[in-house]
Amino acid sequence: MKTYLLTGCAGFIGSNFVHYLLEKDQDCFLLNLDLLTYAGNMENLSDVLENERHRFICGDICDAELLARLFSEYEIDVVIHFAAESHVDRSITAPELFLRSNVEGTLTLLQAAKKAWYHEESNAWREGVKFVYVSTDEVYGALGKDGFFTETLPLRPSSPYSASKASAEHFVNAYHVTYGMPMNITRCSNNYGPYQFPEKLIPLMIHNAKKHLPLPVYGDGLQIRDWLYVEDHCRALDLVTNAAPSGEIYNVGGKNEHTNLEIVKMILAELSRQLSDPDISEDLITYVKDRPGHDRRYAIDPSKIERELSWKPETPFSKGIAKTITWYLQNEAWLSHVTEGSYQSYYETFYGEKLLGKKDSCN
Ligand code: NAD
Ligand code: TYD
Repeated sequence: MKTYLLTGCAGFIGSNFVHYLLEKDQDCFLLNLDLLTYAGNMENLSDVLENERHRFICGDICDAELLARLFSEYEIDVVIHFAAESHVDRSITAPELFLRSNVEGTLTLLQAAKKAWYHEESNAWREGVKFVYVSTDEVYGALGKDGFFTETLPLRPSSPYSASKASAEHFVNAYHVTYGMPMNITRCSNNYGPYQFPEKLIPLMIHNAKKHLPLPVYGDGLQIRDWLYVEDHCRALDLVTNAAPSGEIYNVGGKNEHTNLEIVKMILAELSRQLSDPDISEDLITYVKDRPGHDRRYAIDPSKIERELSWKPETPFSKGIAKTITWYLQNEAWLSHVTEGSYQSYYETFYGEKLLGKKDSCN
């Protein structure tokens, strides 16, 4: 049985990964370490808490003592490191939180794994161990109208969030080059699907449109993202963890570029159809002040992972977005719990001024 230490798996992608792996691999044991920040939610894991192959631990990846205890109590074979502060807008107002969790947290985890896995006298790593770092395409910075991100491009992060992810990547790579730590890094494009916190574009638009609230589109809405259904990302992470040679970096993306405006319009059409509600219409679109340093376009060239690991995105966007909308409609209790309390004050503080008197004007 393989023992995984998964970090940050009460969040969006991590909780999807826990569900995916418990279902797919009957021979795994998952330790799930998460600090339960505003983005972590035990409701994302409610159906796996009784599962004997999954154990949840509430704790901080910056806590070296806790990590040392986990590595000594369990024979951990693999670390898949998801935990991070993940929202670009929050990184613009509080970059120091991103330095702590994303950079210091990653280094603390690398140190704990090295201590448990590396035998100094024989200069050898325990057989079969690996550290997988879940990074992002945002480390490359913005693309112009043409071209794609390939793994050999230099990292040119624009936001405090992407700067912290790039910095953490450099530490992971340094542990590989300097100490020989077995590792992989994945750089995935924007994910969407169930359990995503409604501060991110797609769930925020579903939540607001359902209630006929304004849909805040930043700037001209023509920024381009490359969207991937979260289950396709989970499959890529499983393949990289279990089949990729150590030291390799893989881009993961859906070849599914859309402007933000196109995404919002597709959500409106599908939501209006599923609810038979004609008032869910493009009239709700409200242009607001742009995000500072907003990257114009992301687009992934995933040919390396397709060629080497036979991975391919399997969920077409039309199907994925319909499934996602259905999930949010069927999980109203989940949505209302996560949008209570601190979400309200975040939303009011962040969007309050942006949404005042901005309807139909683009700036
Ligand atoms: P998320 O914000 O939904 O979840 C992050 C989780 O990490 C939360 O459960 C939170 O409680 C936990 N966490 C934060 N700080 C912690 C700490 N100090 N100690 C322990 N746990 C902590 O994020 P997500 O969207 O699921 O992203 C997961 C990972 O994937 C992140 O590393 C992110 O950079 C990366 N990624 C995300 C996307 C995307 O589109 N969402 C795309 C590519 C890569
Ligand atoms: P987001 O989901 O925050 O992901 P990221 O910034 O990591 O790509 O945003 C996706 C795109 O949507 C990005 O170009 C910013 C834009 N956006 C809006 O226009 N309005 C919003 O309210 C949000 C949250 C995002």
